[in-house]
Amino acid sequence: MKMMKVMMLIVMMMMVMVMVSEGSIIEPTCKETPDFNLCVSLLNSDPRGSSADTSGLALILIDKIKGLATKTLNEINGLYKKRPELKRALDECSRRYKTILNADVPEAIEAISKGVPKFGEDGVIDAGVEASVCQGGFNGSSPLTSLTKSMQKISNVTRAIFYSNSIVKEEACGSSWPSLALNIDSKACVVSLQNIQFNRGRTCW
Ligand SMILES: *[C@@H]1O[C@H](CO)[C@@H](O)[C@H](O)[C@H]1NC(C)=O
Ligand SMILES: *[C@@H]1O[C@H](CO)[C@@H](O)[C@H](O)[C@H]1NC(C)=O
Repeated sequence: MKMMKVMMLIVMMMMVMVMVSEGSIIEPTCKETPDFNLCVSLLNSDPRGSSADTSGLALILIDKIKGLATKTLNEINGLYKKRPELKRALDECSRRYKTILNADVPEAIEAISKGVPKFGEDGVIDAGVEASVCQGGFNGSSPLTSLTKSMQKISNVTRAIFYSNSIVKEEACGSSWPSLALNIDSKACVVSLQNIQFNRGRTCW
């Protein structure tokens, strides 16, 4: 009889844990970024968002960086005709945005796919830097200001996800730890992580 009670308790605990681990992590993750609303709206606009783990969320945001860079490059190409006097600055911007598309984005995606998301951070940070350099070339009268700001904001939000507590936890515990939460080892891992002062990108213990 006592055994039955214990077993029922265990089953109930397992059900609770499964429910908890299935909840979307978009909101708690976005709380760790400098722009909660932007973060949530970008992630909710992608059907993969609701079931993604932190690395998955980072991949979605990198897709947004890619989309915005493509859009900006199209805008730049259109400006050559409308504003021929800006050719030099536009050439520079064109190079910068091609760097985002051809180097930063693939580098960040590759790092995440290889299970080392912390190495993806550089590409994401660089996307914001490239946008700023492009903007600077117009000496304060940029026709790309709002696109530049959008890139800087997405870069900042995505970057914060790389700094976030959760991605470090996933790296330390294996990227599928929520689904392993019933396993003693990963439970111990999660519990011990709660007490650890992690250093971003470095081993947590
Ligand atoms: C910005 O200023 C620099 C140096 O003063 C100049 O060489 C460049 O042509 C200017 N660019 C634009 C787009 O006005
Ligand atoms: C992005 O982050 C940098 C560094 O924290 C900050 O200086 C900058 O203002 C942010 N840019 C935007 C557009 O939020």
